[in-house]
Amino acid sequence: MSRVRTVMSCSECGHRVAQWTGRCPACGAWGTIVERAPDRSTGRPGSAAGPAVATLGAAEDTGTRISTGFAGVDRVLGGGLVPSSVVLLAGEPGIGKSTLLLHVAANLSVAGLTCLLASGEESRGQVAARARRLGLHGDGLGFVTGRELPDVVDAARAERPFLLAVDSIQTLRDPASISLPGGTAQVRGCADALVGLAKQDGITVILTGHVTKDGDLAGPRTLEHAVDVVLSFGGEPRSGLRVLAGGKNRCGPEGEVAWFEMGTHGLAEADPTRLLAPGGGEPGSATALPMAGRRAFAVEVQALVGSSEGPPRRQVAGLDARRFALVAAVLDRALGVPLGRTELYGASSGGLQVDDPGCDLAIAAALASAATGQPPPEASAFAGEVSLTGLVRPVPGMPQRLAAARAAGVRIVFAATSGGAGRDGASPGEAGAGDANPGIAGAGTGGPGTAGAGSPGADVRVVPVRHVREALRWASGSGAPAAGDPQARRAQRGRRPDREVVKM
Ligand code: TYD
Ligand code: MG
Repeated sequence: MSRVRTVMSCSECGHRVAQWTGRCPACGAWGTIVERAPDRSTGRPGSAAGPAVATLGAAEDTGTRISTGFAGVDRVLGGGLVPSSVVLLAGEPGIGKSTLLLHVAANLSVAGLTCLLASGEESRGQVAARARRLGLHGDGLGFVTGRELPDVVDAARAERPFLLAVDSIQTLRDPASISLPGGTAQVRGCADALVGLAKQDGITVILTGHVTKDGDLAGPRTLEHAVDVVLSFGGEPRSGLRVLAGGKNRCGPEGEVAWFEMGTHGLAEADPTRLLAPGGGEPGSATALPMAGRRAFAVEVQALVGSSEGPPRRQVAGLDARRFALVAAVLDRALGVPLGRTELYGASSGGLQVDDPGCDLAIAAALASAATGQPPPEASAFAGEVSLTGLVRPVPGMPQRLAAARAAGVRIVFAATSGGAGRDGASPGEAGAGDANPGIAGAGTGGPGTAGAGSPGADVRVVPVRHVREALRWASGSGAPAAGDPQARRAQRGRRPDREVVKM
């Protein structure tokens, strides 16, 4: 009679271990490693009599989360990796997916969890060289060439790692499939097989996936349905700043964002408030407070106005070209800032894509500043959407925007507030009734881009505005100085907005 081989696994999180240990290396629970007979069909522990039907009510949500070693990644995931989940890390080629994957795998292996890296993009030597360059120890990391699906699945079943990291899903192919390598059916088929592996064998899987410039996964978007979590890694490849944004998430909230800086030693978590501190009050620049996911950050937007002999030209980098042109037209018509027949250039600092309509008012300020040579008031920022008539509409997320402003050292925010803000002679009480006010107390629950951990006592004053004119008085008010007039500029510097200033 053949001997029944038993397997050991954690009764808390299901993680399987090769030998008994007092503490589960996956979830950290003590005394939970138990020996069970394997399932005859799947080799899984605990169901020797074959597949059994159980009610959902009996299923316990252990709530186990495994830290990736990056606080930002954990936050985006909803508190860490959920064992047996499948995460898709999507991004354009060259953005840093392989680097992030290697960092996470190395962090987990340092924490005592086994990891298997399946790369179809780089050889073992290349991955090892990258790990050395990043100062990571590859000793605890297994490697398998990740081009053929059966090789990867067999290696994972044999090694039983906590994490299987597949780089990338597009370079994996199933020889049993007759469809074209890299094609829709192949990518989807391989992803389905890896999802099956994750769920049946209790292995957590992270897949990288290339997206095209249009934001589409080169293997189609349908891949997103197969996985539990989609993380998008983005940024401007030439600048060091990277943004990890949570998309679909079956295991936690969506829309969280984490920031990284790509340096010579790989990725390090970054604080965007330090990277994107407002500029030094130069003419042509203004601070915007765009939202990124559920957070906001401070970023400088810049404008340059040149004279044009020919047709007017508008060119932007990092800004929405359509909104930029619209704001310029509004300034021209509503404020009489002569921008109609000019060359206009707009940019965001850090190469970040800033397409939140809430940045309209900051773009207006940068343009007005560039046209008049007047810098905006010191330590100021702008938040509001500009309509075609020049009215400034309130924007969502004011608590987050104000928190980001405070964290970046901004002291004055020109913003549309709901509830009649911006009326001439508005009292502080009236302005305070806007939606900006209540949020600030609860704003900033910590983390990059928020001011929760910000300096106690630092305050942000909101200047409520209804029309773009009210937000740009410093540039176009009485006796507006000629462009580039340094004397007038000096006089303007440090000038505090007069009425309508509300202490938050
Ligand atoms: P990579 O992780 O290979 O991108 P992806 O997998 O998304 O295609 O990262 C590629 C870029 O990152 C490459 O242009 C070089 C840069 N990089 C650094 O700047 N520093 C580093 O330490 C590493 C590993 C990469
Ligand atoms: Mg790569």
